Amino acid sequence: MTDLPYRPLAAVVLAAGEGTRMRSKTPKVLHPLCGRPMILHVLDRLIELPLARIVVVVGHGAERVTKTVQEQLATDIPVEFVEQRLQRGTGDAASVGLTGSGFDLDAEDDVLVLTGDTPLLRAETLAVLATEHRLVDAAATILTADLDEPTGYGRIVRDARGAVERIVEQGDANDAELEITEVNSSIYCFRRGLLAPALRRLDPENAQGEYYLTDVIGVLRAAGHVVVGSHADDPTETLGVNDRDQLAAAEAVLRRRINRAWMRAGVSMSDPERTYIDASVELEPDVSLLPDTMLEGRTVVGAGSVIGPSCQLVDTIVGEQATLRQTVARETEIGDGATIGPFVSLRPGTRIAADAHVGTFVETKNADIGEGAKVPHLAYVGDAEIGPDANIGAGTITANYDGRRKNRTKIGRDARIGSNTVLVAPVEVGDGAVTGAGAVVSRDVPPGALAKGVPARIEEGWVEARRRAEEDGGDTS
Ligand code: UD1
Ligand code: CA
Repeated sequence: MTDLPYRPLAAVVLAAGEGTRMRSKTPKVLHPLCGRPMILHVLDRLIELPLARIVVVVGHGAERVTKTVQEQLATDIPVEFVEQRLQRGTGDAASVGLTGSGFDLDAEDDVLVLTGDTPLLRAETLAVLATEHRLVDAAATILTADLDEPTGYGRIVRDARGAVERIVEQGDANDAELEITEVNSSIYCFRRGLLAPALRRLDPENAQGEYYLTDVIGVLRAAGHVVVGSHADDPTETLGVNDRDQLAAAEAVLRRRINRAWMRAGVSMSDPERTYIDASVELEPDVSLLPDTMLEGRTVVGAGSVIGPSCQLVDTIVGEQATLRQTVARETEIGDGATIGPFVSLRPGTRIAADAHVGTFVETKNADIGEGAKVPHLAYVGDAEIGPDANIGAGTITANYDGRRKNRTKIGRDARIGSNTVLVAPVEVGDGAVTGAGAVVSRDVPPGALAKGVPARIEEGWVEARRRAEEDGGDTS
């Protein structure tokens, strides 16, 4: 929490617009950056401040936006959603936010007003904005930025003394105004008691025929109130996302921030530009990430593990000192020291114990692979349990689906499954049992037995007999 001087602080987030320029069925503010919807990045930063309350103005896709925020925002600050039925502009949206909410927004409160489409802002910047606002007792303080490419943004018009006079929108600006590089970030701090009456003075006589929140600045200034422009130290923080190009640009900035933070925390990346880590991922020190690695959702990677090249892990927990190459994993748990890959697909419900090995061209699903077990090549292991130290030969298939139901295969500790074995589930292979190459096993194999042929014939006690024969120096065939 960042400390602020006196007066309660509330926030109104404008998120009712359609985002036409995205050309999407998804409301703009729900488009994800680094795995998290845009508006949640804004709200995550807001809740770092000691706010009394937050009002989110929703409209386009109101239900989806509300549900997403309710499900994904973790805060004790009261959050209320207010619907702006007709999207008549940012001024109208702010007005709906102030008046439509059940919160008693006191006239003496300061109100941060911001839009749901600036996902790069930082809490410290908002705190500085509110502090500056209070220090000079302003009616309005605008976060501004100098941009080399200001096209599309509202421009800050200053008077001869350098004081903010008004904001002019791109579509309404004359040639001289279009030359201005200081832009409106759409992030403001207002005296609530002065904002409400100023909003009532707006009219839609402009290029877009909308009620512009930006016009409030001119209204307050004309009424003799103090209006201040506060420069953002880092202009990238104010980048607004209106189209897919800006979305990609903003995501790249966010990705760099996330990667830098992890590198400072002790994670190595051989090429940070080709390393993609969702905001929700957790990494321990001495994790090493190789190029084209994507860590998504609730993925966690333990100390000393090496991930990549070319891995995509979704909601996957990796222990310490594990190695994963060219692996796609979803809802999987991987134990300490396990080695996975290359070219492996681990589907939901896979649990690989410590020091196990899953190798080239193996697919698993809903499978427990025991400690030290090996599935080195070309296998499908689904709805199965493989005991510790078992070895699964190349080409082994657990035939888990009989056309109606999924059935389980259980393979015991130290079992040796021969190449190209088909395990017709439900079936159980006992501890230390062996299957011959090409066996089609549809009956349980007792511990220590051999199953070979099609359909497999079972020779009980075969393993023990072989051991004795070997001891006698004999032939085992
Ligand atoms: C706005 C500002 C512009 C500023 C830019 C910064 C206005 C008129 N212009 O332009 O000065 O430089 O942001 O990014 O304010 N919204 C509603 N209801 C509406 C209309 C919009 O809730 O009726 C919401 C949108 O969901 C969006 C935000 O307000 O999150 C801003 O609207 P947008 O259309 O993106 O404004 P810009 O053209 O970017
Ligand atoms: Ca915008």
